[in-house]
Amino acid sequence: MVGSQAELGNQVIGAMKDELLASLEACGQEHLLAFWDELDQGRRDLLATEIRGIDFALVNRLYQAGGASEDVCQLAGRAGPPPAFRLETSGNRFTPEEARHRGAEALRAGHVGVILVAGGQGTRLGFDHPKGMFPIGPVSDSCLFRIHIEKIVAGSKRYGVRVPLYLMTSPATHVDTIEFLGEHDGFQLPQRDLHVFCQGTMPAVDANTGKVLLSRPDRVALSPDGHGGMLAALATSGCLADIRNRGIRHLFYLQVDNPLVDICSPEFLGYHLLSDSKLSTQVIGKRDPLEKVGNVVEIDGKLHVIEYSDLPDEVARRRKPDGSLEVWAGSIAVHVMETALLERLAGQADALPLHIARKIVPYVDPSGRTVQPEVPNAVKFERFIFDMMPLAANAIVMEVDPARHFAPLKNASGEKADTPETVKAQMVAEHTRWLRQVGTEVDKGVAVEISPRFALDAEQLAEKIQPGTRVTEPTYFC
Ligand code: UTP
Repeated sequence: MVGSQAELGNQVIGAMKDELLASLEACGQEHLLAFWDELDQGRRDLLATEIRGIDFALVNRLYQAGGASEDVCQLAGRAGPPPAFRLETSGNRFTPEEARHRGAEALRAGHVGVILVAGGQGTRLGFDHPKGMFPIGPVSDSCLFRIHIEKIVAGSKRYGVRVPLYLMTSPATHVDTIEFLGEHDGFQLPQRDLHVFCQGTMPAVDANTGKVLLSRPDRVALSPDGHGGMLAALATSGCLADIRNRGIRHLFYLQVDNPLVDICSPEFLGYHLLSDSKLSTQVIGKRDPLEKVGNVVEIDGKLHVIEYSDLPDEVARRRKPDGSLEVWAGSIAVHVMETALLERLAGQADALPLHIARKIVPYVDPSGRTVQPEVPNAVKFERFIFDMMPLAANAIVMEVDPARHFAPLKNASGEKADTPETVKAQMVAEHTRWLRQVGTEVDKGVAVEISPRFALDAEQLAEKIQPGTRVTEPTYFC
């Protein structure tokens, strides 16, 4: 009896291998089973699940299609300035006051939700946990998640509504994020307003051969499918249905690495609404034509982001008669998007294209040894959220001051820019500015930090602080 059960088991396992092998051979990826016979059943199941989840025909097609298409460069030749609300407001269609009024109306009506994407692997920062857990508060050591969520909690108090947060993780960050938020009671955001959803993955392939890489004998080298993976993940997780059911019409989108985002800025929402835009984006004025930012441009009446590497120098250097740059707007990845647009695009599998990028990806070689390459050895596939722009009617941009609104945490200490030190310094500078604006004296070199629970801006700060107050030592206003 025992013998025949074991035999049966072997037959099932053999059939499983045969089935996987047949489908892998059909697309030249059979090496993924190289270590199959050495694995125990649990690890075989894991590997089989990963393999079944991959669309190998798509992976092969993308690999063979190669890198950035010539079309982008050709498109870039026709790039012009986008319809914009500039910091110098005299040429703008609406005033900041009109915008703030309209934005506040939408907030008070409960029409606004927030999408925070936090599925990236944060490889440059080299932090052992999801980037959202990084302690960035210059005085408080508050982490990025806390700062963002407290802004949402304070915003919902200010406007007397519930503002739901849809927080995207990836398999690389999901479990840590859930546990961390649980330990901190969601930073006071009611549970019913906090939705954590996980994005999908794509396999990395060997750049020379197109073979999918193994990260371990029993694991495919999978990585998150880019922030544009948000579109599909919103739908499959049920978040999009929740957004619809709550009557949320506009979604404020931000990335986890920038603590200076003015979440649910009424002015930004207002310009978006007054322009009947379906997707709006914040930008900064480029100081240098060749600055390494994504360029927001208008091409044939549609908004596009063109990566600096795809923008020909000749186009980047073009100037208007007044001497200013034609391609002036650098993307900072803060958007407002319409629920209706998300619904329309989420129904189209290929609404957002997959881009390819060369990256360093450790892998297991045929002998079973783990190789840690020093130069990019692999190709990864990612979707980008900004590819939604050309698909959105009446898209506009709003210029913000980079010193006040853009402090992305990208790199580890010791690098030149976007490090914990530069981000903290920018936070201190901004909060010092608010304090001085309301008549507080802050001694030179003294670090200050204002919790969003204390004040969301200088206007709220003025209600809490007596003019003439002096700050002489590091202070956290909370
Ligand atoms: P980046 O492209 O800067 O990537 O992501 P990263 O993971 O933070 O850092 P590196 O490149 O590995 O060093 C910009 C934003 O998009 C999110 C990130 O979490 C960050 O908020 N993102 C990126 C996702 O949510 N999913 C992805 O697949 C990629």
